[in-house]
Amino acid sequence: MKNADILTGITTTGTPHLGNYVGAIRPAIESSKEENKTSYYFLADYHAIIKCQDPARIRQSALEVAATWIAMGLDTEKSIFYRQTDIPEIPELTWILTCMTSKGLMNRAHAYKAAVDYNETEQNDPDKDVTMGLFCYPVLMAADILMFNARKVPVGKDQIQHIEMTRDIAGRFNNQYGEHFILPEAVVDEKSAVLAGLDGRKMSKSYNNTIPLFESEKKLRKLIMKITTNSLAPEEPKDPQTCTLFAIYKAFAKADEVKAMEKRYRNGIAWGVMKQELFEYLNEILKEPRDIYSRLIEAPGDLDAILKQGAMRAREYSVPFLEKIRKAVGIDSLF
Ligand code: TRP
Repeated sequence: MKNADILTGITTTGTPHLGNYVGAIRPAIESSKEENKTSYYFLADYHAIIKCQDPARIRQSALEVAATWIAMGLDTEKSIFYRQTDIPEIPELTWILTCMTSKGLMNRAHAYKAAVDYNETEQNDPDKDVTMGLFCYPVLMAADILMFNARKVPVGKDQIQHIEMTRDIAGRFNNQYGEHFILPEAVVDEKSAVLAGLDGRKMSKSYNNTIPLFESEKKLRKLIMKITTNSLAPEEPKDPQTCTLFAIYKAFAKADEVKAMEKRYRNGIAWGVMKQELFEYLNEILKEPRDIYSRLIEAPGDLDAILKQGAMRAREYSVPFLEKIRKAVGIDSLF
């Protein structure tokens, strides 16, 4: 198996929504189709237990995330799709890298710093609710990436720091033990849309304003009807650029359809009409994947088999590579 040209992980704590799809899943599926590129995509379930200690939620989310990627068209023959927890070499590499990571570097990690800042404003002990999992989270992420010598790592802006840290850790390892790791690069896709949610703010689980990708048709319609608009009457010209409905439409529609819709805004399309059309448009796109998704969720055995198959392929790389890393640090057969 070849090292990763592209690698990214999805933390399994939530239910995938339209914003996840447009911002991360869709671009990843697209780049997995590039010829002669090896892409690795994985469910970051070791990461999930850092921030979520509800086993039922963790299990359900892994199922939903896996089913979403496949329902949306990820080719699991072409790309390598696996669960982080099916690769035992990752936690082993994590420890080796932990020994190459200065504590000072981790002190600067923003997830940890945010927790400390919060405690300070609340006048708590600065370590309150800070686990070693949270503190060392960037090392686990470095292991995810370095395990497969990934060159490009598509991430959101908030993750750039972790890629910098990965480079730092890899560089230190290479200095000490020889050139074993490729230094990865973060890829932040400025084009990929940040989708607005029900209330107009960024669609995000933490704002509770999401539209899950695979709700029933009825629920999808209900959620779209709930999207906030201004109070302009039908017939009054409307500004598409400041409208959440339009932003969502634009994230899915073709260029000429977007143009035509812009014109209808200027001509004063009524909010009720726009909402109904947006619902119909999205529903048409999501109908088929929704059926695939439901079938996958009902047959978790099939999903599990796909992920196990992915893990087997990933381990064709990680097992021999970790062997090499162990040798490099002096952990080797004694005879
Ligand atoms: N920490 C990333 C996030 O919260 C998810 C993730 C885990 C990841 N391991 C990774 C992303 C490795 C890219 C590469 O979004």
